[in-house]
Amino acid sequence: MGLKVLNTPRLLIRCYQLWDEVLLKDAIDSSLDHLQPWLEWSLSEPETLERKKERVIENIQKFKNWEDWTFGIFTPDNGKQLGAIGIHPRVWPWWLEIWYRLRKDAVWYGYMTEAVREVMKFWFVELWADFVEIHTSLKNLSSAQIPKRLWFELRDELLEKRTWPRKVRYMTKDVYQKRISH
Ligand SMILES: CC(C)(COP(=O)(O)OP(=O)(O)OC[C@H]1O[C@@H](n2cnc3c(N)ncnc32)[C@H](O)[C@@H]1OP(=O)(O)O)[C@@H](O)C(=O)NCCC(=O)NCCS
Repeated sequence: MGLKVLNTPRLLIRCYQLWDEVLLKDAIDSSLDHLQPWLEWSLSEPETLERKKERVIENIQKFKNWEDWTFGIFTPDNGKQLGAIGIHPRVWPWWLEIWYRLRKDAVWYGYMTEAVREVMKFWFVELWADFVEIHTSLKNLSSAQIPKRLWFELRDELLEKRTWPRKVRYMTKDVYQKRISH
């Protein structure tokens, strides 16, 4: 699969390109206090620009090989990275899990709801997924609002089984076609 670009009225959503490390680093470094309460990996940030370049290359490779899909979310002029959204295969090919983050100054504009809605089209139509889930911490209310707004249903509440208490919500292709796709 080549360069994948999804456009919404306010966003450019695309897989990474080789020169993206500077924008990626800025999107994370500018927002550490906003990301660290929720994303464990961000406790080891900031990383060097060289390491970010390696990560961009890894992401491009995995996207091309259909192993894992990360999209950067950018302003339409491609000048600033607003966030990222990704899809991990859990039980390939039909069961996927999504994740997302925005930079600190990009929250409360509805960007992530807009991005998830667009990326749904990609996973249900182009990846032929049947089932997608999202795990949100019980305390992360703004993250949980996004699947709720988009008709995800509650599947499970995992209080002790994994490292952090979370709610698992899911969306099926059937519900997507009935509620979202038109
Ligand atoms: C989780 C996260 C992406 C949510 O960001 P967000 O800005 O709240 O989500 P959205 O982009 O969908 O925006 C929705 C908010 O924008 C508001 N909004 C403003 N203009 C809007 C518009 N045109 N359309 C839709 N919503 C709009 C909505 O009212 C809503 O606010 P509310 O929940 O108070 O009602 C963000 O807080 C984040 O990056 N957190 C840190 C990382 C993280 O927790 N990731 C998730 C791990 S599970």
